[in-house]
Amino acid sequence: MTNQPDRIIIFDTTLRDGEQSPGASLNVDEKLTIARALAKLGVDVIEAGFPHASPGDFDAVSKIAQAVGVENGPSICGLARATQKDIKSAGDALQGAYKKRIHTFLATSDIHLQYKLKKTRADVLAMVPDMVAYAKTFTDDVEFSPEDAGRSDPEFLYQVLELAIKAGATTVNIPDTVGYTTPSEYGALIKGIKDNVPNIDQAIISVHGHNDLGLAVANFLEAVKNGARQLECTINGIGERAGNAALEELVMALHVRRQFYNPFLGRAPESTEPLTNIDTKQIYKTSRLVSNLTGMLVQPNKAIVGANAFSHESGIHQDGVLKNRLTYEIMDAESIGLTTNQIVLGKLSGRNAFRTRLQELGFELSENDLNKAFLRFKEVADKKREITDWDLEAIVNDEIQQP
Ligand code: KIV
Ligand code: ZN
Repeated sequence: MTNQPDRIIIFDTTLRDGEQSPGASLNVDEKLTIARALAKLGVDVIEAGFPHASPGDFDAVSKIAQAVGVENGPSICGLARATQKDIKSAGDALQGAYKKRIHTFLATSDIHLQYKLKKTRADVLAMVPDMVAYAKTFTDDVEFSPEDAGRSDPEFLYQVLELAIKAGATTVNIPDTVGYTTPSEYGALIKGIKDNVPNIDQAIISVHGHNDLGLAVANFLEAVKNGARQLECTINGIGERAGNAALEELVMALHVRRQFYNPFLGRAPESTEPLTNIDTKQIYKTSRLVSNLTGMLVQPNKAIVGANAFSHESGIHQDGVLKNRLTYEIMDAESIGLTTNQIVLGKLSGRNAFRTRLQELGFELSENDLNKAFLRFKEVADKKREITDWDLEAIVNDEIQQP
């Protein structure tokens, strides 16, 4: 049986690995708001948290499972170490979801086994099938990750993956936990798994990587060429240390260069079928929302969603773009949901223009909050000729989101 989807699965871990960014903690309501936005963006799986880690995480996963894990919505996933307690917490927290996934992990690199887990390879070979089988008692959809796969002995990795799939794992995720691999190495690792794990066709190969060397997105694109069909990523690339692979970069790379990637999915190069289920027009809005709620600023030169990503400074570039945008632009700003003919907000602007711009920035305010923010906006606009997006975000953050 082969189990390869015809589109690349986008597994968003903003609320789990993304929230592991120093200083990025979110309350339950904020997590729900982000989960709703991710569903609207079209992600296939939302990793909503690590239920056994804290009662707050359990609560958030369970509320997201009920409110966002609806029929035709995304699968909701909970992370669990390979222990019965963790897996049970994840299974319990996910109960309300229509589609639920348990993601269980156990390290396979010698350095993790020796120093962190104090376990042998034989221990791992015994634990993995047991824990995957236990997770299967809560849901059919079980993902297994050999943590630090990027630094694990490939032969051992093949053995572990074979056992995980035999025990029922439907997705096997290959984490480059410390962002150590290079694109050609990571591509070869995925190819090695495809060629050497006898039952690999019964599972989807997923990739997960960190940006310690700034290579996570490049690694994933190489993995897609070699058979990976699920990408684990976060909005704005937030996550542990230097962050995770950025969803917006992966999706737009696949979108802009789809003629190049189509053949790796068995399609004709000129196929116009999207490679992912993402509604790219929701990207900018979702990026702003995540930045506002986590307090993690997006660097101005960040690919796709940075403030400068679609602006042209040099005279030569401006002249070229005015003659034909394609001279210096490889994608439309509109394709990520940015409006090019932006209405400039000032003291004469009305509530409707104000509300529309806030929505474009990812803010969905109640009528009451909108009124409060609008009053403040008028005060600021009286003193400043032009109100920028940064002013608007400051107004909302000061007026509404602070206790
Ligand atoms: O980076 C990592 O290895 C992880 C695992 C839990 C998948 O986040
Ligand atoms: Zn990670």
